[in-house]
Amino acid sequence: MSPTASTAAMTCHHLLLFILAGSTSSFLPVEGSGWTYKEGGNGPDEWPGMCQVGARQSPVDLDPKTAVPGHFESLVLLNYDRKTVGNVTNNGHTLMLTFEQPCEMVMAAGGLPAVYRLEQIHFHWRSEHTFQGKRCPLEMHMVHYDRQFKKLGDAVKFNQGLAVLAVLFYETKEPNTVLQPLLEFMPEVSQTEGIPYKLSQHVTLQNLLPDELNYFYRYAGSLTTPNCDESVVWTVLAQLVPIGVQQVAQFHKVQSHHEPLTSNFRPIQTVNKRQIYLQQPSERYQEISAASSVYESCFIVIVLSTFSITH
Ligand SMILES: *[C@@H]1O[C@H](CO)[C@@H](O)[C@H](O)[C@H]1NC(C)=O
Ligand SMILES: [Zn+2]
Repeated sequence: MSPTASTAAMTCHHLLLFILAGSTSSFLPVEGSGWTYKEGGNGPDEWPGMCQVGARQSPVDLDPKTAVPGHFESLVLLNYDRKTVGNVTNNGHTLMLTFEQPCEMVMAAGGLPAVYRLEQIHFHWRSEHTFQGKRCPLEMHMVHYDRQFKKLGDAVKFNQGLAVLAVLFYETKEPNTVLQPLLEFMPEVSQTEGIPYKLSQHVTLQNLLPDELNYFYRYAGSLTTPNCDESVVWTVLAQLVPIGVQQVAQFHKVQSHHEPLTSNFRPIQTVNKRQIYLQQPSERYQEISAASSVYESCFIVIVLSTFSITH
């Protein structure tokens, strides 16, 4: 076999793996799937599926000055106040949490077109969405799918089949004690791909969220990992949650193929013709503005949105 032929054969084998990985849910641990967050070497510029050709991709920059006022009813998160047990897994792309749901956890109302069931929660460090160009240290994605489908893998093929609730974090000196139980297996979990670790403590998901749930950006977008399917109704909460500097550092140690991932955010995508809505909480707004004075980073958006409201 000539050297040229063997190179071609390797490329084909690699492509085949790619297609196999794409046919399963990108949220499951996919051993040997080719995509990475590195520049070149199967990085974001080479991701397959809709990633290069889509017109409503995620993440995007969010700006209160250009957002359209949303007039949605209140967002409902059912059973997020229940204690639940779960696993934490390093799937080679992120740290993922899955929870037992004796009571189904769902997200609904708030202008959502369906009722969505929680599938899993994972993290991006640094944040994927930006607020007026400012990138936060961490973003949490709570991934839901339309409960009229049997599983996420079915829903992902449909417009509005998924709903992701995103929460962005700002850095503080003190650790966030609510996040501590989720990081109990660090650093072991960061070095072992594809193995679920059972959390020793119960978790109440509501405690991971900011106080104000009716202050959010809403837009139609995509998954931020291959195949970047354009099936996601995004809800990005505008109030930030604190996280300790040391806790952020623990995320940065998560490894993929025995190398630190370092960061795992997809670059900002163009908005194109989409409308991005901003739902403002009317009565409680002043409280949030007051709270924003304690933010050490990523605070500019909060301050500026105060202006856009008062004028
Ligand atoms: C947690 O992981 C175990 C395997 O270690 C699995 O049997 C169980 O279904 C997982 N639970 C959740 C909620 O993911
Ligand atoms: Zn994500």
